[in-house]
Amino acid sequence: MNVLYAVSEAVPFVKTGGLADVAGSLPKALRAQGTDARVILPLYSAIGEKWRLKMNFCFYTFINLAWRRQYCGVFKLEYGGVVWYFIDNEYYFKRDSIYGCYDDGERFAFFSKAVIDILPMLDWKPDIINCNDWQTALIPLYVRDDSTGYYNNIKTVFTIHNIEYQGRFGKDILGDVFGLSDELYNSGILRYENDVNLMKGAIYKSDYITTVSPSYANELRDSFFACGLHEVIEDNSYKLTGILNGLDIERYDPSTDIYLSENFSPEEPDGKAACKADLCRELGLEESDTPIIACISRLVGHKGFDLISDALDRIVSRGIRFIILGTGEDKYESFFREAENRYKGRVSANIMYSEKRASMIYAGADMMLMPSKSEPCGLTQMIAMRYGSVPIVRAVGGLKDSVRPYPSDTATGFTFLGYSAEDMERTVNYAIDIWYDREKWHELMLRDMVEDLSWSRSAKEYLKIYDSLI
Ligand code: GLC
Repeated sequence: MNVLYAVSEAVPFVKTGGLADVAGSLPKALRAQGTDARVILPLYSAIGEKWRLKMNFCFYTFINLAWRRQYCGVFKLEYGGVVWYFIDNEYYFKRDSIYGCYDDGERFAFFSKAVIDILPMLDWKPDIINCNDWQTALIPLYVRDDSTGYYNNIKTVFTIHNIEYQGRFGKDILGDVFGLSDELYNSGILRYENDVNLMKGAIYKSDYITTVSPSYANELRDSFFACGLHEVIEDNSYKLTGILNGLDIERYDPSTDIYLSENFSPEEPDGKAACKADLCRELGLEESDTPIIACISRLVGHKGFDLISDALDRIVSRGIRFIILGTGEDKYESFFREAENRYKGRVSANIMYSEKRASMIYAGADMMLMPSKSEPCGLTQMIAMRYGSVPIVRAVGGLKDSVRPYPSDTATGFTFLGYSAEDMERTVNYAIDIWYDREKWHELMLRDMVEDLSWSRSAKEYLKIYDSLI
């Protein structure tokens, strides 16, 4: 079976979020199961010389986008056992950032159209195109809009990584940029309120829809979680499945991580204590026999920072040390800077993103706090588990599906349900109490470190869906 994974970012080439991690891992895992999975993405200027030197130029062509005719170069690279295609057009992709341009709608429409138009020119044809989020949501619409017959037996799967970003544009874009007929708007397939909504269109027009955890798939029937698209989801729930993402266990491995002062593993976990001491020295935290609670996240409201700001003083008063790593909204950035000043040696605010510091925190912390309002899957809790930092999470979406609550013989963390500072605090306090029972905690930590988080389980579920479609 041939699968083309169409995506707007992928590790190791370009990353802004968890989507890139999935695109960097799932195709590899599909290949390991005998599928010829290939990936296609835009050749942004952010993809540097290091990679470009290794690429082969395949051909160029011109893409019709409504009345426009735009150059499109195609490059190819083999990396990690996977074939990668890159769509080149400097006008669209030589920008300072990969998203957030005034013409994002046109840029990703170009990419989507290019993916479709170049297929007959490749010496390879996919049975399935797996599209991801709004940036590639036009692909299923273009596939069904085609009249050449070439795409008749190609099936499309649309994966929702986060329904918050739907790709909404004024109605005029439909004919003027996308080159699609008003019929798609008038029939309601692309229309939401008075906008063109790409995610809605893809949900209707794809042969199948997946999302990144079973719980999120259920939550999407609710207007809060679906950001207004709950009825669209309900209408299409017959072809929707939630599959929990995996973790790239080679990349996130405390036994080989180059940023750690001492490597460790479930068989030899002692290095974790050295990492904790090292982390305290690096961040200027007191070295005391108390737990370290960490938070690695974008500092935005829906990650639950209103709860953390509300409860931080009371949590710190239990003698723990608290570390935050991430950037985001001003009010949270200043809140944590100010907390660091108030609690010298006990709170560390790292308003930045650094791979090295993230690794050191995953390894040196005892607990990882994630009180998200909504979380389609989430990666932080999985990395934390692998590094023996026990997750404390709100039981939503992928957090609920990846963390089994204490106490139980199979527990991997602590969960709470209510979105309130009290519920979170109660659970944090409970985790702190258990931490002081050294034997129990050690058992829990080891269970996290050996948990099977690999992609092979998820890849099998994707394959089952692909198989059912062809
Ligand atoms: C989005 C979601 C996140 C998920 C990631 C990969 O970023 O917000 O929860 O882990 O996509 O699917």
